[in-house]
This record gives sequence, structure tokens and C-alpha cells, in this order.
Amino acid sequence: MKDEILNLLKKSERSFLSGEEISSRLQVSRTAVWKHIQALREDGYTIESRSKVGYRLVTVPDRLYPGEITAGLKTRVIGSRIVHFDTIGSTNDKGKELAANGAPEGLVIVAEEQTTGRGRLGRTWSSPKGRGIWMSVILRPEINPMDAPKLTLLTAVALARTFDSYPGIQPGIKWPNDVFIKGKKIAGVLTEMNAELERINYVVVGIGVNVNTSRAELPPEIENIATSLYIETGKSWSRKDFLTKLLEELEALYLSFKMGEYAAVVEEWKKYSVTLNKKIKVTSPGVALEGTAVDLDDDGALIVRTRDGSLKRVVAGEITFASR
Ligand code: BTN
Repeated sequence: MKDEILNLLKKSERSFLSGEEISSRLQVSRTAVWKHIQALREDGYTIESRSKVGYRLVTVPDRLYPGEITAGLKTRVIGSRIVHFDTIGSTNDKGKELAANGAPEGLVIVAEEQTTGRGRLGRTWSSPKGRGIWMSVILRPEINPMDAPKLTLLTAVALARTFDSYPGIQPGIKWPNDVFIKGKKIAGVLTEMNAELERINYVVVGIGVNVNTSRAELPPEIENIATSLYIETGKSWSRKDFLTKLLEELEALYLSFKMGEYAAVVEEWKKYSVTLNKKIKVTSPGVALEGTAVDLDDDGALIVRTRDGSLKRVVAGEITFASR
């Protein structure tokens, strides 16, 4: 009901809508209308009320409320349901919980703030309130669990495409899935999976994007290696618009992946890559090697030419750029 009242207020644009009209259109009492208006105000909407005239929507809060996102979203699967939290530990943890309880493919969990946001390799992920996009999406692809890393690469491409639509922003992907702007990390992907030997039960793709984080809000340990759209452009951006574009790019890529069209994703990943042709060091469980990143194979593995000229295939891990 609250959303329906909000929609009526939005439709009437800047003019007043009487309490009587809302109550008769939605078949609820005037008292109920008033209570929902109060609840919308508590959610951060500014609604002007004038006695004997009615209500008028003045401002919409900068929150990622499902109703605000779905109103302009052109997707069928990704974001078909959105669950919103003001504060949460980690949207990935919530995603795993909901997926284990049967949540459908495409369900998105989004939070204004995470208190225990997680990054790859056991790191923490700073997620200050209202400053970024901290979200997870549940996927249930019918693929071999070995192919799950492809989803991470695909997500990095969706992120890069989204950043690419911002004026003056040139995103780069550092293998496997970090998005960089001018050498600093702006977004990351944490993919977690529940699978049997040959079948995936669910995948939770967690995405963190620094949108309006200021330099002062970055934790000191990442102050010099992280950035945000705000830091790069000197102005704030609509998180809602970023999220909408990201979900649409994600859906386009995911649906073509499900149709077997993955080669184009690899090509696009290469186009955005800041890793290929660079001297790198790889650290992953049981592996420590140095060489030049020469290619990405069709499975998303990084091909590294070591000093002795041999080619090594790296499927997971962390790379750092070597100085020479
Ligand atoms: C990385 O680059 O290390 C991955 C960062 C992933 C952060 C996102 S924010 C939303 C989701 N929930 C989490 O706890 N982590 C991911």
C-alpha cells in the first residue's frame, strides 16, 4: 500500500493529491493514507501536506529502495525481486541464506551499509552508509561448477560497461575481477557458490562499488589504492542510476552466457584488461610465479609466460604488478 501511495504521488508529479482521492482510488481509509504518508516520511521522502488540499511529493531520498529501482528497470531475471536493508552484516551472507531457503534466480539483495562487508581472500570490504552499491545477486546457472569463475569475469565486464557510460571514466579490469580507474580500485566482485560435484545449487555474486565515497571516508589502509566515482569526477552520482545500468548489463551478459555465447565476454574482458602484457607476480594456493600475462583463455584462466618461456595457466589467485 505504501508503494502504491508513493506511485500515485509520483504520477501526480509536482501537484497536490487530496487524501480523499488517494483513499478512494486505493480503497483505504483516510487514516490509513495518513499513516502510510508518515511511514514514507520516515523512509526519507519529503511530502508536503496542505490542509484541504492534500499531499505533494517534494523530494525522493537517496536510498536504493526496491520500488525506486524496479520502476525504471528493464530486466526480466536480474532484479526481478529486490530485497533492501538499511544495515546488514554482508549482503553475500544474506544471499546465501536466502538462496539456501529457495530464493529464485535473479533475486538481488542491496544494503545502504554493511557492517562486516567481505572482500576476496578473507579481506574486509569497507561499505559506508549510502556511499556505494553493496549488493549480491543469486544465480542458479545450469553449468558445471568448474565454469563458475566465468560468472565473475562476466560480472567484471558488466561493471566495466557501466563505468564506461560515465563521462571521462575509463575503467580497466585487473584479473580476475577488480575494476580500476587510473590505477586505483573502484569496484570488486566476490563470488560464492554452493555446489555438488557436477551441479551448482546456487551462486551468490557480491558486488561492491565505491560511488560517492569521499577520500576521507576511505579506510587509511586503502586511501592510496582505492577510489570512487566521486573522487574521480569531483561530484556525486545517483546510486540508483548506476545500479539500474549495472543490473541491465549483468542481465544482458548473463542471458547470452546461458545461450553459450561466452567467447564475446572473453574478448570484451580482454578489451578492458589492464593485466594483459604486463609483468606480474601471481600468488594463489600452492602457486607463486612471476612472468608476463599474455592471454586469457576461454575458461577465464590467465596465461602467464614465465622467464624460461613456458606458459602457465592460472585459474585463481591474486596478482600484483611486478616492477620490472
Ligand atoms: C573484492 O574485491 O575483494 C571483492 C569485494 C566484494 C564486496 C561486495 S559488497 C557486497 C557483497 N557483500 C560482501 O560482503 N561483499 C560483497
